[in-house]
Amino acid sequence: MAVETERYDRALLLHGVKRNEVLTLEEVERYGRDSFGDPDYVSIYGLRPREWYARGVRILGRTAVECTRDVLADAMGQTIAANIAMLAPGPRVLAIDPFAGSCNTLSWILEHVPASEGLAFELDARVSELTRRNLALLGRPIELIEDDSLKFLHDRPLPSDRALVFFIAPPWGTALDERTRRLDLRRTTPPVTEILASLSARYATQPLLFAVQVYQKLEHASFSEAEALLDRPKFRVFGFNAAGQNHGILVGTRGWALRSP
Ligand SMILES: C[S@@+](CC[C@H](N)C(=O)[O-])C[C@H]1O[C@@H](n2cnc3c(N)ncnc32)[C@H](O)[C@@H]1O
Repeated sequence: MAVETERYDRALLLHGVKRNEVLTLEEVERYGRDSFGDPDYVSIYGLRPREWYARGVRILGRTAVECTRDVLADAMGQTIAANIAMLAPGPRVLAIDPFAGSCNTLSWILEHVPASEGLAFELDARVSELTRRNLALLGRPIELIEDDSLKFLHDRPLPSDRALVFFIAPPWGTALDERTRRLDLRRTTPPVTEILASLSARYATQPLLFAVQVYQKLEHASFSEAEALLDRPKFRVFGFNAAGQNHGILVGTRGWALRSP
């Protein structure tokens, strides 16, 4: 009998031969087991891998690595909703994920923010096709546009009668320094700082809330630059991973007043 020695890790799934391959259930569980000691690590859409797989959901190798899993997406959705609850009641919320991937985070944001609608963008045709299919299978009412989000958001208007909630999690690329383990918000692809500046200018007449997924340690100057682009910035780190390897969220608004006492 052949002995399986290949390790299912980030390198194989994100940069190796599995990047653009649809994974089997065994492979999804093996990635969780090999990399995190947990076959259920890639729990998304509120379901464990064997549950979402049984419902017909399929993901590529790259999406298994890039997706935001349930514990974190749920916590970020709750944090965003709690921040919105402190703001003056405004128009209906349109929540937008310009870097959709699995769309799991947007699903959780819609779950927690009352009466919100969802709009997502995905550049990669294969990821977009699978995510659209997965959302339909699960009955998640998210409009997914296959396009470069920043170009689209720059060129075309969004409904002007909505408060806009942007969830910003662009690919990190080399922005997370291997040595210092600090994330540089000016070096993501594209830079978070540029996204905040350009969306704030583009939608200056609407109430805006930005939620940026970050790492627990941030390169100081880039953090200050991002904070300066936001009103009432708040930074929170979650504790779902091993010490020193946790994700967090930076939330701030533009043109959206606090709720009166
Ligand atoms: C880190 S994943 C996002 C994870 C996602 N938020 C979730 O909840 O699972 C980033 C995704 O953004 C897509 N992407 C990168 N640049 C993009 C762009 N300019 N426009 C649209 N999608 C983009 C990538 O193809 C990838 O699928």
